[in-house]
Order: sequence, then structure tokens, then C-alpha cells
Amino acid sequence: HGTSKINALGHLEIGGCDTVELKQTYSTPLYIVDEALVRQRCREYMDAFKASGLAFQVAYASKAFCVMAMCRLAEEEGLSLDVVSEGELYTALQAGFPAQRIHFHGNNKTMDELEMAIEAKIGCFVADNFTELHMLQALAADKGVSVNVLLRVTPGVEAHTHEYISTGQIDSKFGFDIGNGSAFEAVELASRSLNLNLLGVHSHIGSQIFEVEGFQLAIERVAAFSADVKERLDVTFKVINLGGGFGIRYTDEDTPLLVSDYVRAITDAVKQYFAGIYTQLPEIWVEPGRSIVGDAGTTLYTVGTSKDIPGVRKYVAVDGGMTDNPRPALYGSKYEAMLANRGNDAAEETVSIAGKCCESGDMLIWDAELPKVQSGDLLAVACTGAYNYAMASNYNRIRRPAVVFVHNGRGDLVVKRETLQDLISCDVIPERITKEPS
Ligand code: LLP
Repeated sequence: HGTSKINALGHLEIGGCDTVELKQTYSTPLYIVDEALVRQRCREYMDAFKASGLAFQVAYASKAFCVMAMCRLAEEEGLSLDVVSEGELYTALQAGFPAQRIHFHGNNKTMDELEMAIEAKIGCFVADNFTELHMLQALAADKGVSVNVLLRVTPGVEAHTHEYISTGQIDSKFGFDIGNGSAFEAVELASRSLNLNLLGVHSHIGSQIFEVEGFQLAIERVAAFSADVKERLDVTFKVINLGGGFGIRYTDEDTPLLVSDYVRAITDAVKQYFAGIYTQLPEIWVEPGRSIVGDAGTTLYTVGTSKDIPGVRKYVAVDGGMTDNPRPALYGSKYEAMLANRGNDAAEETVSIAGKCCESGDMLIWDAELPKVQSGDLLAVACTGAYNYAMASNYNRIRRPAVVFVHNGRGDLVVKRETLQDLISCDVIPERITKEPS
């Protein structure tokens, strides 16, 4: 998919770059991002919303992959940006992302984070709880400014997805519940707070979702809530933010819709459910992360050792693993792989791809069908653009890989590979244990 193909040498080529050459230049493990595909996904969202006729913002959920080059790219494509920490906010600001188009999420923003964001004059805070509303009001009053606020509400919709990444149900750490009156109370408080400008509400029902029914139900509930709030408090929401969660295809088991179909389902539901409530339809904001960058990413590994247990299984180990892709270990996520240096060779054996960390759970793929794998082969794992670099760790003091954007035959480094020096750069040895080695 995207710009990936097998070239005349039988090598996997992405964005016009031969992956065998990318390995020679950048070494492995290496995250490769198909820039054209990321831009295409951004445009699919923008175009689908334009076609809907509704006012909108598409905010890239930077948690999926937050580096300065990606913030610049999202900016260029006209997207807004969702950040959830001072680190993401800092990255975006340093990349020159316009503060007005930044939305700040999170269920436990600290005073420092709120202050930093107010000073940067970001576009909007997505307030998660009463503590935050009070903190925001106090800080904004202190600085003599007014800040835009969306209230994160939990519409009580449980999306059909992995339980660790469902957040729309009632029993969730996120947001104000619509069902028990707390969301109503939050609207009352926010709309009365002198330094808060209540724009509307936000709902996010989960991630890697394939069906549109969950979104439609959430919209129906948010609309009913909006009607209630209008009637009893005379408050009208200008903005409804429906979060992210649109699924992508990791393996054949996954059956996502096209971006345009997701967007149409959402905008149609908004038109249907809000028609009887507001004379002017609200602005619709969404926050896709995975569906912007997920399938544009490929991780390139070099095959090292193998262990054949006759009659049981053959393990093949690569030079990365759960440190660059913790998703199989965390969520049981499945991936597809191919040999990037022998793209035309037919599958000949079933092997399981292990990482190099010292724990048995460090497996990337169980039972992959591949050509006879040899030490030195290049293994490409597809769909690693979202929540891979973002969740990478230094477990076992393994260095985080480099990230390269490929486009029209050009590879550009956007994140350097960590050095051994980087690994100890924050380490301090207290003087009392710095005695001369005896
Ligand atoms: N908006 C909010 C409020 C969210 O919590 C999230 C994701 C998104 C937007 C973006 O959702 P997306 O379009 O990427 O599905 N680490 C997990 C995914 C966690 C998602 C958390 N929130 C994984 O690797 O599958």
C-alpha cells in the first residue's frame, strides 16, 4: 500500500527509496515513514469534511507519533494538533506549530502544564474534571485572560475494541459522565466561570474502531445532552469534538472503512441529531492519530540469531523488539512482515519473530509465513507508524531507533538514532558512591 513496492532488485522500496540502501545509510532497527501516505491521509480527512459542508477542525492526535517534523507536516496540511502533555506541547511549539490550533488534553494536567499552555495562548483546553476546571479558572483569572474550554464527557458508549483502549464507557478515568449529572454540573460551572469560555463538549469512545455505530450512538447522546443543556441552562455548544479512534488494517483480520466513510457517517449523524436542536449546526472537530500515521510506518530490522525447536517452533530474532514496538506484548496486537531484501521470494517456512529483550513476552509476530530466513536478512514489519516510536522505551538500555521520512526517492532523517552517550546523559553518580574503585 502507499508508495511501497518491490523494485527491480527484488527489494522493498518505500517512497522511492530502496530499503536495503536505507539500512546501509541509517542502520537498523529503523522506522521508515511514507510521507506521501501521511499527507494523503491528512487530505482524505480534510476533503471529506469540506464535502460535508460543516465547519470543522481535524486535529492530529500527536500522541500517536509526536516529533517536530510530524508537527510541521500536520501544520502544512492544515490540521490542528491535539497534545496531552508539556512534552508534546513543547515539541509542537518548538516546531513552530501555531498555538491557536493546539488543543490540550489529559486527565491530570499539572499547574505547570496549564500555565505553560495559557502563556503559549493555545486554542483550547479539553477539561477532564472539576479539579482542572477550578485550576484553569484560577490561573486564567490570575493572568487576567480568558481561555477556551471543551468539556470531555463520557457518553457511556463502549466501542468494540481491546479493553485497555476503550475509554467511552462509564467506568473510565476520563471525563464527566453524562448519565449521572456530572457533565451537566460541569457545563453549569464552566459557563459561569468568568475566565472560561465554554466552546462545547468532547467525546472519545476508544481506538482502533471499525464500526460507525459507536460514533453514531455517541453523537445521539451528546445531542440529547446538548438539548438538555440548552433547555435548562440556555447554553449552546459551538463545537462538538468527537475524538479519534478510526481503525486501520494491520492484518487481514482488520476491516476498516475508508476515511471518507467514517467522516460521512459522523457528519451525517451530526446533521440528523442536531437538526432539531440548533438552528445553526455546531462545528465538528475530530482527533485522528492512528489513521493518520499508522499504515505509513514500517519498521526495518536485521535478522540475527534463530532457534529451531524441531516439531515445536522456529524462533527468529531481530535487532529490535518490544522496545521499539511494545504493542504485541501490551495488547496482543498482530502484525505482518516480509523480507525486505528478498521481496519476490515465496513463503517457505513458518517462523515466530522474537525481539532481543531479556523476557519471553518480547515477541513481535507469532507464526509468520516467510521465505527461508537467514541471518543478515532484512525484515520489514508494516503498519508501525502509530504508537510505536511514541511508546518506544530504553528497556535493557536498548537505544531508540532513528526515524526517516521517505518521499520521491529521498530519505530524510527526522529523529536521530540514540547514542550510547544519550543513554547515560541523565545519569548521576552521587558522590558518596563515587569512591575510588578499590
Ligand atoms: N483523542 C483522544 C482523547 C484520545 O484519547 C486518543 C487516543 C485519540 C484522540 C487518538 O485516537 P486514535 O485515532 O489514534 O485511535 N496506545 C494504544 C492507543 C491508545 C489510544 C489513546 N487515545 C495503541 O497502541 O493501540
